[in-house]
Amino acid sequence: MCGIVGYIGKREAEPILVEGLRRLEYRGYDSAGLATLTGNRLHLRKKAGRVSELGSFLQTSPAPGCIGISHTRWATHGPANDVNAHPHLAGTGNGQVAVVHNGVIENYLVLRRHLESEGVRFHSQTDTEVIAQLIACHMDGDLVEAVRKVLSLLKGTYGLAVVSPRNPDLIVGARLGSPLVVGIGDGEHYLASDPSALTGNTQKVAYLQDNQLCVLTSDEYHIFDAEKSRVSALVHSIDWTPGESDLNGFPHYMLKEIYEQPEAIENALRGRLSDADSSAHFGGLNLDVQQLRRAERIIFTACGTSYHAGMVGEYMFEEFARIPVEVEYASEFRYRNPPIDQNTIVIALTQSGETADTLAALRESKRKGHPVLSICNVVGSSIAREADGGVYLRAGPEIGVASTKAFTSQVTILALLALFFGRMRHLSSIQGARMIDELHAMPDLIRRTLRCQSEVQRIAEKYFHVDNMLYMGRQYLYPVALEGALKLKEISYIHAEGYPAAEMKHGPIALVDASTPSIFLVPRGSIFDKVMSNLEEVKARGGPVIAIASEGDAAVTDHVMSRADEVIVVPDVPEYLQPLVTVVPLQLLSYYIALLRGCDVDKPRNLAKSVTVE
Ligand code: G6P
Repeated sequence: MCGIVGYIGKREAEPILVEGLRRLEYRGYDSAGLATLTGNRLHLRKKAGRVSELGSFLQTSPAPGCIGISHTRWATHGPANDVNAHPHLAGTGNGQVAVVHNGVIENYLVLRRHLESEGVRFHSQTDTEVIAQLIACHMDGDLVEAVRKVLSLLKGTYGLAVVSPRNPDLIVGARLGSPLVVGIGDGEHYLASDPSALTGNTQKVAYLQDNQLCVLTSDEYHIFDAEKSRVSALVHSIDWTPGESDLNGFPHYMLKEIYEQPEAIENALRGRLSDADSSAHFGGLNLDVQQLRRAERIIFTACGTSYHAGMVGEYMFEEFARIPVEVEYASEFRYRNPPIDQNTIVIALTQSGETADTLAALRESKRKGHPVLSICNVVGSSIAREADGGVYLRAGPEIGVASTKAFTSQVTILALLALFFGRMRHLSSIQGARMIDELHAMPDLIRRTLRCQSEVQRIAEKYFHVDNMLYMGRQYLYPVALEGALKLKEISYIHAEGYPAAEMKHGPIALVDASTPSIFLVPRGSIFDKVMSNLEEVKARGGPVIAIASEGDAAVTDHVMSRADEVIVVPDVPEYLQPLVTVVPLQLLSYYIALLRGCDVDKPRNLAKSVTVE
């Protein structure tokens, strides 16, 4: 959560920091601020609201200087106002320090009370200010040493950047649990919580590991471990394509990303399907064949939309690989202590690769000796680096807070993995070859699915005013019902719940009335008739029904049309691939409803794209 950008070099820092913050705004957008230095003068500018508010403020009050740190916030401690915005200052005159911080300081109250008892006056309600006050107290002319001393007092997580007029030619950074990366330029250096902040400035980056501290000057950067020894970090080249993060004519990133799904699925499949052995191949699993063959159980761990993708994976793995699977919320899994047999592989699913709970679940699993894989979108992210191996989604940057293309890419990768594990066990080459053909067909089928856009828009206009919505699906489509409901809540703030359709009668059906529409996922398949019965039960109680049905078979489509109030048709695909085609109209429906309700689609209230706090 929250984004950090720092710059030191020969150029004016302010425009570089603001541009970096704009790129990181998906990490939090409650407030934004920066601090720059000119010699021994510190210039602080911060504002509640979006980075654009800070930008307007800077028009009238520019922040001069070629060194600076900045931050975009997702509030944890204290409301989103000007005072709680970062950077936080402490100390006076030359001994002043400015701090920006991601993460949570768990012992901040104890530290704050202690400082207050010694006469230190606090200005904000944040946990971060305690870091600034402590550094100011320990500042004895050497900022690096002061930061080092303070780190040993902190409990919790941090990615932080500090400057002080006392040492006007350096930025100090430190990491524990919150990502931080050094950007390496020519006569200039950057610090960022995410390499995407550096787009257009440098492609060379060095990632900090936990318990490391870095010191940047214009000409050099040094990384130190907890024992103060210098470490040589691997320099990575980040692969960003200019323009990839632009809107390309779409009004919102979410819509753009919905439309990018055919290409994202193509990228997920590219080079990974092999006709020769009717299986899938991955370059980076890093587990030997014996380990993979021995797997007796797989645990998917994830949060949010990635969790729903994991649930689809559970059905796939059980059907094709015949391996028992459990899907665990990472936030629960990290603190549980379930008995796990030796031959269990843990797979962390994550778009960002930075979700704090998923990272903690991965570390706990590693500690217990399980092989850990990741299915991740962001190359070089913490989870991708710490897993034993994994598969990248290759979906390109996902900027909209509500995840869309990452979900369909994850489901695609899970289908590939189910095929791969299946072919090692029970799946015949004929079944494998059939799956390969079916997977190859998906990008075009998603293109066709997107043609439902105008129909979805019409339905959104009819229902955008409702207060509640129910989503029903069974088997492979139960997770899609959950995902559809999540999309609607996230961006339109309508209360929505997903259920396994047959569970309706055990409670949720009490909610059905004329003003509560139910969305039924009823494509053709083995339990079509069963889901239709559930749909009838809702109709019988006067609830409006929107059905997602398969095109093709007129009798089936007519049957659905005669019972539902609205029908959206999607291509007829095998059941395990139905999540891919049925989720698309649900994404579009949420998008158009949110627009009609005047919501900020890409930056919904209270949310953030990358959740790096517990
Ligand atoms: C946040 C995002 C969701 C996302 C979840 C998990 O809540 O708003 O869209 O699904 O985090 O993120 P991850 O990056 O681990 O997939």
